[in-house]
Amino acid sequence: DWSMKSFKDEAIAKVRAQVGDKKVICGLSGGVDSSVVAVLLHEAIGDQLTCVFVDTGLMRQGEADEVVTLFREHYNIPLVHADEEKLFLEALDGIDDPEKKRKTIGKLFIDVFEARAKEAGGADFLAQGTLYPDVIESVSFDGGPSVTIKSHHNVGGLPERMNMQLVEPLRELFKDEVRALGRELGLPEAFVGRHPFPGPGLAIRIPGAVTKEKADILRKADAIYIDEIRKAGLYDKIWQAFSVLLPVRTVGVMGDERTYDHVLALRAVTSVDGMTADYYPFEHDFLGRVATRIINECRGVNRVVYDVTSKPPGTIEWE
Ligand code: XMP
Repeated sequence: DWSMKSFKDEAIAKVRAQVGDKKVICGLSGGVDSSVVAVLLHEAIGDQLTCVFVDTGLMRQGEADEVVTLFREHYNIPLVHADEEKLFLEALDGIDDPEKKRKTIGKLFIDVFEARAKEAGGADFLAQGTLYPDVIESVSFDGGPSVTIKSHHNVGGLPERMNMQLVEPLRELFKDEVRALGRELGLPEAFVGRHPFPGPGLAIRIPGAVTKEKADILRKADAIYIDEIRKAGLYDKIWQAFSVLLPVRTVGVMGDERTYDHVLALRAVTSVDGMTADYYPFEHDFLGRVATRIINECRGVNRVVYDVTSKPPGTIEWE
């Protein structure tokens, strides 16, 4: 892609001009945007870049290992892996209000990030995967009161607190352009094409109080769902697909036994930018196959339902 190649060269030149011989810290989440920023910066300034990956323990199955392997071993980018599952689960203990969950995770995330960045020697610059839609969304057009639907997870405020300047090489791009840039940079398709994942992670896909046991059930069920979506060749047709572990138990029967277990909701939507979305019209056979596999393979789930709500009036995530 010629235009992406020239965008890449220009972006690298701009980063070099901005940063000079100073140090940069980049928060890596495993998502497309921060991965593209990290690889772009690594090409631009090499070892002046350190990445910090705050692992909340609320990631999808296998995701943390993939991030560490790709960046540390494949790219040889200095990477701090803050493995803090216990800390995050303790902080979330007993919290069932969605906004309180988001704020608890957001605050802890910033504390951990700041501490690890300092330990790594600090830096003059903080690199972020801010996209064009984020830039527009944060501008208030009428100055009037706005309603917060969900407080989004970000590291806003951190640059001032740590006295760092921002490097935001994706500010002019939309998501599909970031993906094209990622391909231009040689990032593996598994990273470039991955569905979006929210900063608060699985915590907001477990309505009610979060526990490690619930997170483990959800991870396992979700991996089966995504596996079946890939096998059916549907992954790239869907903006985002994921599972939600409901705080509801229902009665079922397995063999001759009565069961009393969780309900799992499946969600899949098409969208252009996440602002509006339609639920994905799976074939019933497909849904039946996924439900059977999940109930057979995941202890703790005995019923599966499919969410047919579009956005609006629903949001994509349940919390
Ligand atoms: P909603 O649920 O608001 O989600 O319809 C729209 C898109 O944003 C993602 N999302 C987040 N992404 N931090 C993020 O980086 C967050 O706190 C957050 N909350 C929701 C969601 O997965 C969907 O793609």
